[in-house]
Amino acid sequence: APLSIALIVAAYLIGSLSGSLLLGRLRGVDIRQHGSGNAGGTNALRTQGWRFALGVVLIDVGKGALAAWLALRYAPVGTGLSVTGHGYAAALAAVLGHVWPLWHGFRGGKGAATAVGGLLVLWPYAIPFLLLIWGLVLISTGYVGVSTVCAAVGVAVLAWLSGAGSERLWFASVLALLIVYTHRGNLQRLRAGTESRFARARLLHR
Ligand code: G3P
Repeated sequence: APLSIALIVAAYLIGSLSGSLLLGRLRGVDIRQHGSGNAGGTNALRTQGWRFALGVVLIDVGKGALAAWLALRYAPVGTGLSVTGHGYAAALAAVLGHVWPLWHGFRGGKGAATAVGGLLVLWPYAIPFLLLIWGLVLISTGYVGVSTVCAAVGVAVLAWLSGAGSERLWFASVLALLIVYTHRGNLQRLRAGTESRFARARLLHR
């Protein structure tokens, strides 16, 4: 049990390393004071340009993958939690770290890229499905936040429909709830008609 706890705490601390806030320090900018105020890849693209945003996404996806990989690699066997269960718990801890980062005053991002990193290691077959939903919603609406929420819910539905094991179903369901929660501001702005939109991504018009 001490090793399991250490892996999950390590995952939280790795998740707490925010790509946008660390790269922002190099550039002398805190993107939480710009655009949507979110410390994530989308707001990085919106306010800092694509090179910066690409770096942010690579770090945030990478840390989710790293946390999950470390947990799979070093999980103790013969505890209550299986090896893959450790992977899912660590991926979730990394997402929580990204959203409430110890190193950045507990004000981080919304967790999508970090969750994708975890999925890359733990359930890679979900990725094309996730990207398909995300891309279709994005090109038809131009709203990244809405696309992310749809993709997260889609992954939970996929886990349920595919009769995934209970650990995977738990992970995908908790993750979807968390992503909806972190995007509550986006959903409120969508209803109010004030959510910002990437016009270039929107191919279909109302
Ligand atoms: O994952 C973040 C994205 O879905 C929304 O970002 O900056 O539009 O709130 P933002």
